[in-house]
Amino acid sequence: MDREEWLALTSVMPDYLPAVRGFFDRQYAAHDRYWWRGSNRYSTQPSDHTAFNAAWLAAAARRGPGRALDLGAGEGADAIRLARLGYQVDAIDASAVACEKAERFARAERVDVTVRWEPIETTSLTGTYDIVLMNGCLHYIRDKHSVLTRVAAASAADAVHAVALFSTVTPVPTEHAAVPVFPDEEGGTVERFYVGWRTLLRARERDRAEHSHPGFAPHVHSHIKLVAARKPEGTPAG
Ligand SMILES: C[S@@+](CC[C@H](N)C(=O)[O-])C[C@H]1O[C@@H](n2cnc3c(N)ncnc32)[C@H](O)[C@@H]1O
Repeated sequence: MDREEWLALTSVMPDYLPAVRGFFDRQYAAHDRYWWRGSNRYSTQPSDHTAFNAAWLAAAARRGPGRALDLGAGEGADAIRLARLGYQVDAIDASAVACEKAERFARAERVDVTVRWEPIETTSLTGTYDIVLMNGCLHYIRDKHSVLTRVAAASAADAVHAVALFSTVTPVPTEHAAVPVFPDEEGGTVERFYVGWRTLLRARERDRAEHSHPGFAPHVHSHIKLVAARKPEGTPAG
């Protein structure tokens, strides 16, 4: 998307999005690597990762190559790992700086990732995705149900979704007050959406120290993390 198309979109853009986009543009521009600063960055070995990342990586490897969607892809580390597993990956982010970095890092790793500078709320989802990641983006989105519904409609009957977002258990730390955030309740919109899917991982992490990004005073977060496989049509729920 070029700048004019982006500006045209602002008429339908959620009110909070310019602040989110500006915040991430600044963070990504200030650090060579904002996320994924460890040597495991592009490893596709589940054992190199936390339980959440291991769960979706193992599911993606088991499933075999297909189409993947990474919403709020940031600098593209997850998308690059999926591409290394043979997936055809669409990576979407509202930050232009993130998109430039994700494209550059994918090129450096010699993998193809289709990076799109678009808001998740309005991005067009065509065809069918086998794996969908929403790793850290849904707490920046007010209407999560509408995003989840659109994404599910563009997902295969046996797709795997991996979602990680802030929960309301910990108040939003002062460090994050610079940007609007909409954490979800434990047992709230996101967890309810996946009832009937097969749970591969579900974690309610509370008051965990945040180490994944630089430039902030020490603070804690609570997260909901969920990796779920949609049952093939006709399979009983449970
Ligand atoms: C916490 S970061 C996670 C980045 C990446 N998924 C990772 O785990 O390394 C959240 C990302 O979501 C993007 N984002 C937030 N709200 C968005 C929206 N409404 N549309 C598109 N991207 C959005 C931000 O620009 C940011 O790059």
